[in-house]
Amino acid sequence: MMIQKIVVVGAGTMGHGIAEVAALSGFKVGIVDVSWDFLNRAKERITDSLNRMHEKGQLKEKPDDILSRIEFNVSYEIAKDADFAIEAVPENLELKKKVFKSLDEISPKHAVLATNTSSIPISDIAEATNRKEKVIGMHFFNPPVIMKLVEVIPSKYTAEDVVNLTIDLANKMNKIPVKLKYEIPGFVSNRIFIRLLQEACREVESGEGTIEEVDSAARNKLKLPMGLFELADYVGLDVVVDIWNVLVTRGTLDVKCSMFKNKVNEKNLGVKTGKGFYTYPSPGKYAKVQLPTESKIDPAKVISLAVNESSWMIENQIVNAKDIDTVMVYGFNFPKGLLEMADELGLDLIYNYLKEIYNKGFEAYKPTALLEKMVKEGKLGKKSGEGFYKY
Ligand code: 3HC
Repeated sequence: MMIQKIVVVGAGTMGHGIAEVAALSGFKVGIVDVSWDFLNRAKERITDSLNRMHEKGQLKEKPDDILSRIEFNVSYEIAKDADFAIEAVPENLELKKKVFKSLDEISPKHAVLATNTSSIPISDIAEATNRKEKVIGMHFFNPPVIMKLVEVIPSKYTAEDVVNLTIDLANKMNKIPVKLKYEIPGFVSNRIFIRLLQEACREVESGEGTIEEVDSAARNKLKLPMGLFELADYVGLDVVVDIWNVLVTRGTLDVKCSMFKNKVNEKNLGVKTGKGFYTYPSPGKYAKVQLPTESKIDPAKVISLAVNESSWMIENQIVNAKDIDTVMVYGFNFPKGLLEMADELGLDLIYNYLKEIYNKGFEAYKPTALLEKMVKEGKLGKKSGEGFYKY
């Protein structure tokens, strides 16, 4: 099937960015949302972003020509000639089901219906339609124009040709797709993201360091583009808590932490409200936060729980080490893969931190059988010639 027109449902942070990416790649695009206020705001944001890229000489076309491929509407009629739809509305299953029911009724029989959900099971969403085999997860990263990764997540119903079409579309949108073998809560990206936040939170709540020190270790030692609390603010603390809750209610071992929930209860949601763990210039406006250059926090400890989670995914053959690193490099702009970092810092060090924290009563830190085996066999990373990779 040739995809000509892509419809995006939801004109918010992710929706407007996905629509922009689609138009930049030459597709005809339709954006639908419930009010003209949202649509006009999306148009402004796309225009600003295109102008920024134009000024830097990054566009082959004029911003107006790209914009002219995007149609805005409050009616689903816009989807009647769509070949592919991407839903990016708030993370609420009932709302998503309503959207998918409407798309299913209006769009042509051949159209694939994708969801950009970061936490809701794709199969649950698919069940709202009469084309379960044509529903798939297509997970973009914020900001979509900058971040290259797209996770492709088949549900238990998704047909193989739909998976291949979605991978092909991600490539045509100039993105790097990573396909999961099967769906797991939080996919690869958010399982790792939440594990990083859980360890960051544990360090602060147990008095091992301040928010700024943990973030300084992330930015200055691991060389991540943002600190972890800063990134949580950027993503939205309500979104973080939603994903966290989904992981826990769907069987992932929790790590005790109240900082994130407290911020949400106080309605300090991060960049979007102007205040979260840090204060921003105005609601919706992000500016890099000021952090100390020195920090007593060990970067190996910061990534320990995320590395353990990664080894669980490898053990369960959901993805391989290279896929995990692709996710972190292209979805979170890590300077190198998480497992490359782990190999460099030493798997024995990471394993010892996991054991130490596990022995304090944090169940989630129990080293996986895979990690334990690697350490016992002397596969300690770069220094021993083999870890997650061979050297
Ligand atoms: N349109 C066009 N250009 C944009 C843009 C936009 N919307 N946003 C940023 N840019 C450009 C800037 O113009 C700048 O370009 P230049 O280098 O050519 O001057 C470049 O991107 C960098 O932006 P800034 O200078 O404004 O700011 P930073 O250097 O601080 O970079 C960042 C900002 C790219 C967001 C960087 O901090 C980063 O990579 N952070 C990590 C983001 C991340 O991890 N995202 C994933 C979140 S998780 C997720 O989305 C999954 C979900 O399910 C939760």
